[in-house]
This record gives sequence, C-alpha cells and structure tokens, in this order.
Amino acid sequence: MILGISAGRKNRVTESTVGAVLDGAGGDTEFVSLAGKLIRPCEACNGCVDDNTCVLDDDFTAIEELVHECGGLVFGAPTYWATMNSKGQAFWERLSFSTRHNALFPFSGTPAAMAAVDGKDGTGEYVLADLKRYFADAGLETVGTIAVQGEYACFTCGYGSECAVGGLAGLYPLGTGITDEIIPSLDNQKPHLEDDRRGPTSARGEAHGLGGLLRQEVDARR
Ligand SMILES: Cc1cc2nc3c(=O)[nH]c(=O)nc-3n(C[C@H](O)[C@H](O)[C@H](O)COP(=O)(O)O)c2cc1C
Repeated sequence: MILGISAGRKNRVTESTVGAVLDGAGGDTEFVSLAGKLIRPCEACNGCVDDNTCVLDDDFTAIEELVHECGGLVFGAPTYWATMNSKGQAFWERLSFSTRHNALFPFSGTPAAMAAVDGKDGTGEYVLADLKRYFADAGLETVGTIAVQGEYACFTCGYGSECAVGGLAGLYPLGTGITDEIIPSLDNQKPHLEDDRRGPTSARGEAHGLGGLLRQEVDARR
C-alpha cells in the first residue's frame, strides 16, 4: 500500500497534490489528512526508548501504524512562516525520534515522495528543506519531490483584495478582484519541475508522474 499524508487544510492544495500523487501511483493506496487531527509535538519524554513507539495518546498513534504498514509514502505540507507548518513538524518530530532508538530505522529504504506547498511562488523551498532533513534522517529513499503554489487563506477571508498586509498584496496590485482563475490550484499552474523525466504540462500532470515513479519504486522492491 502507498500511503499519502497531508498536513494541509481539508480540500485545499496540499490535499489535492498528495491525492494526485496517489492517483498517479494507482493500485492500493490510502490517504490520511492531518486536518482536524490532534498531533502533539514531541515531549522528549523518552517513553519511546524501549519499544520505539511514541507513548503520547492522540491521533498520531493510528497514523504511525499505517506508516509501518505502507510500502511507499507521500507526505505533503504547507509553508507557514517560512517553515513547514507545525502540524507537519510535530508529525516528523515524533515519527523520527520514536523510531530511531537503538538504530531501528524501520522505514529505511522505503520509497517516498514529498509535496511542498506555499502561498507565494510555488517553490516550496522551506518545506522541501525540512522534509529532506526528516526523510534523510529516517532513511527513506526519496523518489522525487513536487512543489506547488497553494491558496493563501486571504483569497477567501473577505478582505483579501484590499488588505495591504495580506497574501494577495504580494501577488497582485491592491484592488484586484478575486476570480477562480487567480486562485492557485493544481490545474491552473505549470509544473515546477526538478526532474524532467516526467515531462508533464500541468502541476497535476507532474503530481501524477511523481506517483507513477513512486509506484515503480515500490513494485521494484516487492
Ligand atoms: C499561518 C500561515 C503562515 C503562512 N506563511 C507562509 C509563508 O511564510 N510563505 C508562503 O509562501 N506562504 C505562507 N502561507 C500560505 C500557505 O503556505 C498556503 O496558504 C498554502 O496553500 C496552505 O496549504 P493548504 O491550502 O493546502 O492548506 C501561510 C499560511 C498561514 C495560514
């Protein structure tokens, strides 16, 4: 099974990107959204030292089990304040810390892909930097990455067009009307390719291509 996890909002760009990677992977997939779920940060309590399982009791527990079951992983997160959002950070703090004791590293060699979303320019640079560190530490085998521009919450706050400190002010002149065409989605932006083996013409196509690569790598290990 290939597992997709999104640390973004419900039904927004991070979710749709992870979902499109899973679509491209085909076959047996599962999707988990962290939206609305409680994922507390690591307390460094050392409760995981003996059995490599985090002892904090919240929604992380069931998701960690799925990570253990999966043959491949795609993890997506949005940028908040020039870093991966804290829900994504909390997830990886706990997954990486609890599984490394006694050099267990149970995900070592598992094929994985990362999806990074930001509001500004779609480079996803901060999330990619964070995820690259976590993936490397866990020993995951990175198959590829995708970065896309997401939808600032300012597009739907009601004041976005006129707000001088909002996300839209960095993208458009103040007073620009908000239409579906300017709200970033997977279907109205070009790929930001780092790997041209996929050759798609849309961000959704890029996500599908990444999913295909992930599936190939998972199948190659069976
Ligand atoms: C608290 C907060 C901080 C943010 N900080 C940044 C930022 O530093 N840089 C950026 O490009 N986008 C930033 N964004 C925009 C999000 O990355 C963007 O809205 C993204 O689409 C959210 O993903 P989602 O729509 O899938 O939830 C921020 C959004 C929020 C809510």
